[in-house]
Amino acid sequence: MNFASDNVAGASGPVLEALVNANEGPSPAYGADPLTAEVERRLGDIFEREVSVFLVTTGTAANALAISAAVPPWGLCLCHEESHAIDDECGAPEFFTHGAKLIGLPGTGGKLEASRVESYLAGLSEAPKQMPPRALSISQVTEAGRVYSLEEIAALSEVGRRHRLAVHMDGARFANALVALGTTPAEMTWKRGIDILSFGATKNGCLMAEAIIVFDGALAETLAYRRKRAGQTVSKGRLLAAQFLGYLAKDHWFDNARHANAMAARLAEGLGRIPGVRFAWPCEANEVFPIIPRAVDGALRAAGFVYHPWISRSLSPGEQIGPDEALIRLVASFATREEDVDRFLSIASGSPQSAAKKPSTA
Ligand SMILES: Cc1ncc(COP(=O)(O)O)c(C=O)c1O
Repeated sequence: MNFASDNVAGASGPVLEALVNANEGPSPAYGADPLTAEVERRLGDIFEREVSVFLVTTGTAANALAISAAVPPWGLCLCHEESHAIDDECGAPEFFTHGAKLIGLPGTGGKLEASRVESYLAGLSEAPKQMPPRALSISQVTEAGRVYSLEEIAALSEVGRRHRLAVHMDGARFANALVALGTTPAEMTWKRGIDILSFGATKNGCLMAEAIIVFDGALAETLAYRRKRAGQTVSKGRLLAAQFLGYLAKDHWFDNARHANAMAARLAEGLGRIPGVRFAWPCEANEVFPIIPRAVDGALRAAGFVYHPWISRSLSPGEQIGPDEALIRLVASFATREEDVDRFLSIASGSPQSAAKKPSTA
């Protein structure tokens, strides 16, 4: 069984059904179709206000284009030092901004702190040789699986507002954060000062569908051009839109995220009972970061489990990974099965009876 990421899963049934339903007959191309208009309306309802929506196919495109709409080539975008935008996008935000700089700030658990952002900004000069700060980007869920509280988001946005920064949220795991907080899309975004959002859907059930959702109208002005220049204006746009319609219908996206989070919680609970296992950060959404004895790591890998070893600078102060330990990342998705979680836990706890069974590869 594969716990390497939530994108190791395929697409969910309702998303595939929506695609098949949208497939019949001709429809206008490049997003001029009725399904795209329907998704835009639906997202307006979900976010309880008028929004501008730009559908794209990857989270990297969503982040890079969103940041490029907010930051000129001579500007700075402040992010966590381990953010996806900095570490995992091969320089796409810098490329699409035509030269802006992403500044990585430290913070435990992948979280930026308002006071640290404030003191970084206070240290910048206003001389024209200094690139001016123009945006702040936070990841909800963070790269360490943590979830910003509404108060933390508001505090960061408040710093951003005072310094006239656009505030971007990388919501690759937006639904997982939403169900973890038990809040609404509006409360977690524009009501807390978010100006532009990368709304992830691929990890939680779509084939390849993400949306840039803009709350600050001025940031939307150039995005249609930017998206086209990035090769992200999909010609058969209705098939991109159809994924969202299946995803958003009947709370399917919430159900998927609740399941993923519940599977991660089950993993965390079980691992927490195993002597010698502790956690780098609390499990708050659909990711678990246990520090496990190397012998347990070996047994799990020998049993066929797949997951990533993890390296992070955002461990809690004083936390260290010993030479006989491994920090690993386990990610649950809408497709993770309870029996695979239980099988993982039985191997991790050294139960010989379960160890004799073959792991599922579904
Ligand atoms: C925090 C975060 N942002 C964005 C992305 C989206 O990246 P991709 O371009 O792979 O869809 C990911 C995917 O791993 C992610 O974890």
